[in-house]
Amino acid sequence: MAAPLEKSRESAVSPAACEICEQISGSGVDALESKAKSEKVILGIFAATFVTFYAISGPFITPGLRRICLPFVPATPKQVQNVMTLLRGRRGSLLDIGSGDGRIVLEAAKQGFQANGVELNLWLVLFSRFKAKRLGLSSNAKFFRKNLWKTDMSPYANVIVFGTEQMMGKLEEKLQSGLKPGSCVVACRFPFPNWPPVKTEGEGVDQAWLYQQEKLNDLGKKKHH
Ligand SMILES: C[S@@+](CC[C@H](N)C(=O)[O-])C[C@H]1O[C@@H](n2cnc3c(N)ncnc32)[C@H](O)[C@@H]1O
Repeated sequence: MAAPLEKSRESAVSPAACEICEQISGSGVDALESKAKSEKVILGIFAATFVTFYAISGPFITPGLRRICLPFVPATPKQVQNVMTLLRGRRGSLLDIGSGDGRIVLEAAKQGFQANGVELNLWLVLFSRFKAKRLGLSSNAKFFRKNLWKTDMSPYANVIVFGTEQMMGKLEEKLQSGLKPGSCVVACRFPFPNWPPVKTEGEGVDQAWLYQQEKLNDLGKKKHH
């Protein structure tokens, strides 16, 4: 019973109209496929942009989000100068803890120190190494990707820190027992809360303080009696 109806349907659509239908339905699938493809490409571009953005900016943002927040704020030329003034007459190994773009380490290396920097941000470490190479200082300016809280500071004759007020107490405790005899520490921008500085240079945000290990040892002994 259904056959005549089928036949009548078939005959109702002319061959020319069928071709058009095919063309229309074919191009419709193509259009849908190419739309899906372009959506995937857009999604891919968004994902790649996000990953690239996070890979580059993440190391700069995360130090500010840690429990002890220490963001990248480079020392001003005056701060670098004040640090170097306090180190006048000193020689040997030097460590900048949280070395940023390496400006203090590179200046110290130029002035004859065997200078190292530890820094958490990989981009800053790579940039510092690049600058050291360009300046021909690679042999006495070295940069390591390392957490300052897990760094042994006892091999160094000179330790530099441009920290934050919040971290100076904890750092003071770490350094109190972990400094080599005769060594010194220079703090820029924020002084240590309990240590007595032997000298200071500059003022305001550019101020730097010099501490000597012998004086800190005395302080440690007094604290324990
Ligand atoms: C205030 S900036 C000082 C940069 C450099 N010393 C200067 O004076 O130009 C502090 C640096 O410490 C780095 N930093 C933060 N937390 C750290 C950690 N736990 N270990 C090593 N470096 C850290 C930051 O990425 C930033 O570059």
